[in-house]
Amino acid sequence: MTKTCQQHEGHAFAQKQPSCSPRPGFQTLITLLLFLFFFPFVHATAEDDAGDSDKKHDSYSQGVKRGERLFYGLVEGKFEGNACADCHNTMEIDTFNWNPNAWEIAHKYKERSIEEFTRAVMNPTGRTMSEVHESFSLNEAEVALVKEFLDHFEEQGLTKRKPVINKILLFLLLGVLLTWIVIEVVFLKKVKRKWILGVLFSGALGWQVILLLDAGISLGRQENYEPDQPIKFSHMVHVTDNQIDCKYCHHTVGQSKSAGFPEVDLCMNCHIIVRDGTHSGMHEISKVVSAHENNESIEWIRVHNLQDHVFFSHAQHVEVVGIDCQTCHGPVEEMHRVRQVSDLSMGWCINCHRDTEVQFFDNAFYEKYEELHRAMKSGEISRVTAEQVGGAECSKCHY
Ligand code: HEC
Ligand code: HEC
Ligand code: HEC
Ligand code: HEC
Ligand code: HEC
Ligand code: HEC
Repeated sequence: MTKTCQQHEGHAFAQKQPSCSPRPGFQTLITLLLFLFFFPFVHATAEDDAGDSDKKHDSYSQGVKRGERLFYGLVEGKFEGNACADCHNTMEIDTFNWNPNAWEIAHKYKERSIEEFTRAVMNPTGRTMSEVHESFSLNEAEVALVKEFLDHFEEQGLTKRKPVINKILLFLLLGVLLTWIVIEVVFLKKVKRKWILGVLFSGALGWQVILLLDAGISLGRQENYEPDQPIKFSHMVHVTDNQIDCKYCHHTVGQSKSAGFPEVDLCMNCHIIVRDGTHSGMHEISKVVSAHENNESIEWIRVHNLQDHVFFSHAQHVEVVGIDCQTCHGPVEEMHRVRQVSDLSMGWCINCHRDTEVQFFDNAFYEKYEELHRAMKSGEISRVTAEQVGGAECSKCHY
């Protein structure tokens, strides 16, 4: 093949010789490669999944199927308003939902009797519960079918969202593409239009560099991270609606490096009495109570996480300097679920040290800076920033 082509080189009509034009599959190959470039941006969502789940259901028993139809509100005349699944989501979601999800209620009632389940659904005791569960007309047999479905659902778990094709895969594909181009240029030499290879090569290499930089810089960083917590604890409810001070719960913040998480006993100071929440009814608070009764701690998921080689002290910033929590953490008092608002990068720390003036006079902490005191008195400088008192020295922040 290659030989024939080379023989025609120099011939005026060489370009038109079928044996010399790029192989017929070449265009398709280029299109395919271009597609691969953009493929990772095509995100599939779980909603597209309806077809799949229909198939899965073939193996269900008749009872589970009927229970499922009831749970999703697909049976005429059973629900005036929302069906169970509208409140108790069966799929992983990334928005905040006050209602317990379907797996939570399935799990809680799996080992419990049908009487208990029926009571929870039809004759709720909580204040909120009575409102949300008042608009259905289910008979006992139908409630039993719903439980049959939920027992089955407990094993299956919430429907996962499809993972987005990740960057590692894109990186590898780009690597394959680059290798192919090199092999092509050095050995195969089948592609005539070398500029196409050039464009592809620089494109692929550029992408790899961008991916690497991105991964390197954000390694371990997570701005806007907002995980679901084991209990739907809301700062909005506690701080804004009920005027509880940050330091009542984060009581180590003034004396130690860490602000810490409150113990279950501290929650119980109030929740020994308060058992019914406005947004979540009894469900969430009952988790606090049962943790207390079983002497368990609550496994809060950390939102803010500095890498191990960085030293940060709350006491220094909150007590000595007097910085508000919100300067670093944003309006926590308006959040139902805590979100990380600052990127916690080195640049973020240092920029603030550069810009923030410290209370320099009458502060025993800064007496040792004689040179700066002299410069302030003589008017050479008008203010002292955190940077000038060591806030940019590597060893202050790094172990
Ligand atoms: C009634 C107790 C209580 C009060 C009051 C309270 N918090 Fe919290 N805070 C918690 C609990 C429990 C968590 C862990 C669960 C979570 O992340 O929501 C937490 C988590 C946090 C976190 C996330 C920590 C992390 O990285 O995981 C921040 C930041 C925070 N609180 C700041 C504040 C600020 C600022 C205030 C005052 C405006 C405040 N808290 C008031 C109990 C409280
Ligand atoms: C100083 C008293 C106090 C402390 C301490 C306290 N809470 Fe509360 N909590 C309340 C009040 C008041 C409500 C609101 C009840 C309502 O909605 O009527 C509440 C509501 C709640 C709710 C339900 C929210 C809703 O609207 O449905 C949860 C869940 C909760 N608290 C968890 C916790 C946890 C976990 C802790 C410990 C980290 C804690 N609370 C500590 C007073 C407190
Ligand atoms: C409008 C929203 C809504 C709808 C519709 C709804 N629920 Fe609920 N459900 C809730 C809320 C909120 C709670 C928590 C209330 C509480 O614990 O006080 C709850 C609690 C429950 C509980 C008890 C959880 C516990 O902690 O003990 C069960 C069981 C339950 N729901 C089943 C169902 C079933 C079955 C249906 C459909 C027939 C249904 N729910 C429809 C909102 C809803
Ligand atoms: C100068 C910025 C800054 C200020 C001001 C600040 N924090 Fe933090 N906070 C951080 C950083 C950074 C972390 C992550 C620490 C780590 O991972 O070691 C953090 C972590 C936390 C945590 C997680 C638990 C822990 O101690 O690591 C809580 C809770 C918290 N802060 C609450 C507060 C509260 C409450 C205030 C106000 C009284 C406050 N913070 C003021 C920067 C700040
Ligand atoms: C909102 C502004 C602000 C942010 C953000 C901030 N700091 Fe600071 N920091 C200060 C100020 C002001 C001081 C006081 C200067 C001093 O006492 O040396 C200080 C002091 C310190 C000190 C003590 C320095 C010494 O001289 O002993 C350390 C260590 C420190 N910060 C680490 C950090 C780290 C790590 C981060 C980022 C995770 C950070 N800071 C983010 C304002 C900030
Ligand atoms: C005010 C605090 C502070 C000072 C001063 C500081 N760093 Fe950092 N440094 C950080 C923080 C916070 C991170 C973590 C950044 C991240 O997670 O992306 C970091 C990360 C790093 C990293 C790892 C890069 C990474 O992305 O993880 C290196 C290397 C580093 N610093 C070197 C230095 C050197 C060298 C100096 C002195 C010139 C210095 N740092 C001064 C706070 C500081």
